[in-house]
Amino acid sequence: MNNRVAVMHGVNFDVLERRDPNLYGGLSLTELELQVKGFAQDLGLEVTFTQTNHEGEFCESLHRAPESSDGLVLNPGAWTHYSYAIRDALDFAKMPAVEVHLSAVDEREDFRRVSVIRDLCIGSVQGKGPDGYREALAMLKERLSE
Ligand code: DQA
Repeated sequence: MNNRVAVMHGVNFDVLERRDPNLYGGLSLTELELQVKGFAQDLGLEVTFTQTNHEGEFCESLHRAPESSDGLVLNPGAWTHYSYAIRDALDFAKMPAVEVHLSAVDEREDFRRVSVIRDLCIGSVQGKGPDGYREALAMLKERLSE
């Protein structure tokens, strides 16, 4: 079945529960992943999770992603705004991907309005907290069932 989704978090998500709760809701990455797992189960998708603070490791996970998954949910954190290395690795993976941000990046500092991965993604969700991941998974499900 074409239903395996890798949910990949980037830099600073290991300390999510200690970041600004007004922006990120105060929940831990484990709590977020648990919610996302529930959304995936409702949609009949299988999810796996990774998080790293190392850009090269994130790229290597993207290199390997096609071997074990059919689609990607990506929240690379600050890398979103400037990492051409991650952009190139995503381009290499050639997989349907949705970009997600917990916070409304377009309403924050100017540098956050730029996403160097957005045009390679089938969709982008921001400012909806954990619910944004449900939306991202639903977009992938639709694409994967085509
Ligand atoms: C974020 C938004 C990024 O701008 C920021 O650097 C993050 C989190 C979000 O989920 O809202 O680390 O990706």
